[in-house]
Amino acid sequence: MKVKLEELRATAITAIAAAKNDDELYEIERSFTGRKGQLTALLKGLKDLSNEDKRIVGPLANKIKDDLQIEVGKRSAELKKEAFDAMSGAFFDASLPGNRPVVGRLHPITKFIQEIEDTFLSLNFDIAEGPEVEDDYHNFTALNIPEDHPARDMQDTLWAKNIPYLLRTHTSPVQIRYMESHKPPIRVVCPGRVYRKDDVDATHSPMFHQFEGLMIDKTTNLAHLKGILTVALRRLIHPDLELRFRSSYFPFVEPGMEVDVTCVMCNGDGCHVCKRSGWIEMLGCGMVHPNVMKSVGLDPQEYQGFAFGAGIERLLMIKFQINDIRLFFENDPRFLEQFPQI
Ligand code: DAH
Repeated sequence: MKVKLEELRATAITAIAAAKNDDELYEIERSFTGRKGQLTALLKGLKDLSNEDKRIVGPLANKIKDDLQIEVGKRSAELKKEAFDAMSGAFFDASLPGNRPVVGRLHPITKFIQEIEDTFLSLNFDIAEGPEVEDDYHNFTALNIPEDHPARDMQDTLWAKNIPYLLRTHTSPVQIRYMESHKPPIRVVCPGRVYRKDDVDATHSPMFHQFEGLMIDKTTNLAHLKGILTVALRRLIHPDLELRFRSSYFPFVEPGMEVDVTCVMCNGDGCHVCKRSGWIEMLGCGMVHPNVMKSVGLDPQEYQGFAFGAGIERLLMIKFQINDIRLFFENDPRFLEQFPQI
C-alpha cells in the first residue's frame, strides 16, 4: 500500500508539472484527489489493513494529498507567469500605458457660431433663428427683391416641387420674421444654414452658413454700422483688422455697401490671395430699405437702421487661410483637429 501510494505521488507530480494550462491542471488534480480520483480509490483499501498499518498509511495518504495541492498551487503560479512573459515579448509590452480615448470636439463652424453669438451678446444683441424652408414672401418679396430679380432665378434657388416653398438662399428672411414679432429698438444677430443651386468646387457649396445682423431704432445710422462691424470683426478675425466700406447694391438696403478687410495673409501689403490689393471682400451691408420697413409695418419716417450679412465659411477661410470650402464638410479629423478648442 505504502509503495503504491508513493508511486501515485510520483505519477501525480509528473502530471501536474506537465499541465499546460489551468483547465488541464484542474482535471489532473481532480483525477487524483477528487471524489472519484485515484488516491480516493486507493484509500478505500485502507479498511482491509491492520490497525498498525492503518496508523502509518492513513497520515501518509493525507500528507500526499496536501503535497499534491501544494504542487498544483506552484504549477498554477508558474502557468500565470509563463502567460505574462509570453505577452511581454516582442509584440506586447504589458508595462506600456493604455491608449487614451479620443475626445470629441465641436466642429469649427459650430464653434465659430458660438463665438459670433458671444460677440454680439456682449454688444447687447439678441440671437434669433428662422426656418430653413422658407416662402417666397420672406426670402424675396418682403426684402424688396423684385419679381424679375436674378436672385429668384431657378439657377440660384432650390425650390420645392409642387408647393410654394424654397430653401432659403440667405439669412436675410430672418430679419423680416424678427421685425414681424419684435418692436424697435431691435438689435439681433441670426446665424444659420443657407442653400443655393451651386455646383461644388473649392469656393462653392450648395449648403453653407451665414449670419445676419439687424439694428433698428429712431436714430440708428451708418456710424453705428461701422462701429459695430469694426468691433465684432476685430474680435472674430484679428484685433488689428482694418475695414473699408465700398458702395454696392443689394435690393434690401439703401445705401448698400460691401465691406473689405485687410488681407490676413500679407497684412495689407498685397499678395496673391488679395490679388495685390491688400484688401479682401468680406460681407454685404447697408441701411435698411424703406420698402423693407414698410413690409413689416414700420414707418420709415420714424425708424431707421442697418443690416449686414456674411458667409461663415468664407470668413473662416480668410481667418485660417483655408483654400477649399469642401474641407468643412468632409469631416476629416486631420482637418478638424487643427482648430483650437476651449
Ligand atoms: N443677403 C445677402 C447675400 O446673401 C447678404 C447681405 C447683403 C445681407 C447686404 C444684408 C445686407 O443684410 O444688408 O448675399
